[in-house]
Order: sequence, then structure tokens, then C-alpha cells
Amino acid sequence: EKNNPHIITFDKIGSSELGYITIAEARKNIPFDIQRVYWTYYTPQDVTRGGHAHKKLQQVIFAVSGIITFNTEDKEGNKETFILDHPTKGLFIPELIWRDIQFSHNAVLLCLASELYDENDYFRDFEEFKNY
Ligand code: TYD
Repeated sequence: EKNNPHIITFDKIGSSELGYITIAEARKNIPFDIQRVYWTYYTPQDVTRGGHAHKKLQQVIFAVSGIITFNTEDKEGNKETFILDHPTKGLFIPELIWRDIQFSHNAVLLCLASELYDENDYFRDFEEFKNY
């Protein structure tokens, strides 16, 4: 399972009266050392983002608000759909996974990443990814 995309369900602490807290810690419930964090927001509902894969990067991605849908495909053509519809759900994406991403209007995507930004780590061409 380690090299397949999968949902990690994170613990929450709190109550409906107080609200909740969820914690991500490197090498505890995140399977890598976090080197970069980014977030995306205000993506219109009719836009598909993503459209790339990474050579080395691993990620855990949350919908801290709203609903985010991932369609993934590996080099062998195995396709999966993951729906992030709760702040306790994190999607682990290993290296070499193509992804397309769609957002509800209020969605905020939070990404914990294993590497600093490197444009040379991206496949932005699907055929190049499949033939790598
Ligand atoms: P990209 O990874 O293509 O985003 P998405 O898959 O959500 O469409 O990144 C969008 C733009 O932001 C692209 O020009 C690269 C830039 N970028 C950085 O400069 N640093 C980063 O850490 C990230 C994630 C993106």
C-alpha cells in the first residue's frame, strides 16, 4: 500500500461544543519529512487543476474546507477516485501518480510535501509520464 495513493484518517481532538483540532507530524502520521507546505483556494467549480505527476515528490493533501475530488492514475493505468470531504481525511500521493483535481466553491486545499519546489520534478505531459 505504501506506493499507492490512499486516504489516511487523522485523529481529531475536541467536541461539537468546542470545535476540533487535527495534527500532522513528520514521520509519525505523515510518512516523510515535511519540507514544504502550500495551499490553494478560490478555484472555480468548473476548473480542473493538477494535470501532472511528480518524479520524486510525495504529498499528503487535505481539504481543510469544502470538498476536493482527486482522480488519479498510475503508470500501469490503474485509476482511482478519492473524495476529500472532511478535515480529518488526508490523501497520501506517492511519486509517479498523475492527478486531476476538482474543487467545491469553498474548498481550501492544504498540501504537505516531501521536497522543496522543483519544476524539473514535474511531468506535465501525460504521454511523457506514461513512457518514463
Ligand atoms: P501547480 O503545481 O501546477 O498547481 P496545480 O496542480 O494546483 O494547478 O503550480 C501552479 C503554479 O505555481 C506553477 O506556476 C508553479 C507554481 N508553484 C511554485 O512556484 N511553488 C510551489 O511550491 C508550487 C506548488 C507551485
